[in-house]
Order: sequence, then structure tokens, then C-alpha cells
Amino acid sequence: MEVLSTIADVRRRLEPHRRSGRTIGLVPTMGYLHVGHLELVRRARAANDVVVTTIFVNPLQFAPTEDFARYPRDMERDQAMLRAGDVDFLFAPSVEEMYPQPLETAVDLHHLGSILEGERRPGHFRGVATVVAKLFNIAQPTRAYFGEKDYQQLAVIRRMVADLSMPVDVVGVPTVRESDGLACSSRNVYLGEAERAAAPVLSRVLAEAEQRVAKGQRDFVRLRTHLETMLTREPLADPDLVEIRDAATLNEARPDSEAVVVLLAVRIGRTRLLDQRVIPLPQPLPSGQAD
Ligand code: PAF
Repeated sequence: MEVLSTIADVRRRLEPHRRSGRTIGLVPTMGYLHVGHLELVRRARAANDVVVTTIFVNPLQFAPTEDFARYPRDMERDQAMLRAGDVDFLFAPSVEEMYPQPLETAVDLHHLGSILEGERRPGHFRGVATVVAKLFNIAQPTRAYFGEKDYQQLAVIRRMVADLSMPVDVVGVPTVRESDGLACSSRNVYLGEAERAAAPVLSRVLAEAEQRVAKGQRDFVRLRTHLETMLTREPLADPDLVEIRDAATLNEARPDSEAVVVLLAVRIGRTRLLDQRVIPLPQPLPSGQAD
């Protein structure tokens, strides 16, 4: 694996591959890698001739009150993991390399970027979309890989690519979980022992939602209240976002939606954890089942 730190080097090293018609798979990350990231790499490796991973803790997507400074970093360990995953190039730029001057230009998704997580973290998706657009311009990948755990982020990136006609296939990869159901995340490292024990409440709540919908529940307002109550019964959990939305549009879920997505953001101590589950809605309801 070759480690590159400048945009010019990435362009210089990838150009011959592109000219020879080789496909390029891009896995953008903020580092402190876990098995979820390695799954993105595995998928990229299986489908592309050349695999590029990026590690960049992007200041643009953190509010001043958030954890940019203390976001976990371990470049040596990350590099060893990426070498084991057979990555060809790691692009790990400095903030100065990515943003040599204050940006005049940003990618803003007016609606999709300002609802749900965007309402709670103003500017977050502007930061994500802008850095991902930049990484796409730098690496010009054939395909790019993102985890489904960050469901709205994936929706934002897909929409940006569609709106701006970016020539890249965005591939969503299912969430990788610990054995007790906790979704893998770099931020799990913040959890103390008791918090770690409480954290699987998110996946239990998602399983409950799935069961209730499978049994025919279509009153999503009532279901949402039930899920929130379940979360608040866990003393260490403080739910910040509990929403059931149409999985395709992120608008309000309707009984005739093809699938709904349950979106959770829950504080466990000082750590804000995200999780989600897409639940298909069979149309019409299986016979004998009703809300
Ligand atoms: O999901 C992440 O790790 C980041 O938001 C991303 C997509 C690498 C952009 O900084």
C-alpha cells in the first residue's frame, strides 16, 4: 500500500490506472478503523481493480461544540489494517492540503441536508457533501463505498451525485455489528463499561420496530412513541432522534410506503450513537393482520 498525502500525488498515481481502463473503488473514512470499515474495503476490493482509502477527519462537518479535537485517531493501526485488507493507496491529507484557503464554495442539500440529523447538527451535511465531492474530484473513482449506518449521509451523497451528474456509482454497505447487536462505530471507543453494556438498547429497539411492522402495525406515530419509551427505560440512554420515515425519500412514513426506515440517534453518556433499520412494508398487508 502506498501512502499519499497530497492531491497532486493522488492524481499522478491514479492517472495511469484510469488511462488503462482500470476501475477505481474509493472508501472515504475518518480513520480509527473498525470491522465496518474493513467490510467497505472488502466490497471495494472485490469489485474494482484499484482500491483507494482516504483517512481525513474533516473539520467542516463538526460544529464547534462537537468532538473534532478529541475524535479518535491511530494512523499506525489504521495503516496496518488497510495493508491487511489489500488496499492499494491510502490518501491521508492534512487539513491545509484539503483546505488551503477558507472555502467560498460548498455543496448544500437544501432539504435533505437540513432535516432530521441536519436539523440537530446544522452545517453537518454541508461539510460531508463538500468533502465527499472534493474526494470524488481528487480520486475520480468508478465506485465509492459508504456504510448504511449513516443512512441520511448515504441519502445525501446519492442525491448530490444525482443532482450534480457525478460519474460515480455510490454503493451502500449494510451495517456491521458486534455480537450483542451494537453497530460498529469509531465513537464506540468513548463508551465506559456501563455505557457499553447499555448501548445495545438501540438494536433491540430496531428489532422491536421490525417485529411490530411485520405483525401489521402501520400507525407510525404510535410506534414511534413506543420505541422512544423503550429507549427512555434504559437509564443511561437519552434519545435525541427517533423517527420512522419513508426509506426512499426520508419524508413521513406512510402505510403505502414500499419500505420505512427507523432512524435513531441516542446519547449514551457523552457519546451520541446512530443506528437505523430499513423495514419493507408488504403491500397489501398480509391477511388477518391489522394495526
Ligand atoms: O462517514 C464518514 O466517516 C465521513 O462522514 C465521511 C463520509 C468520510 C466524510 O468525511
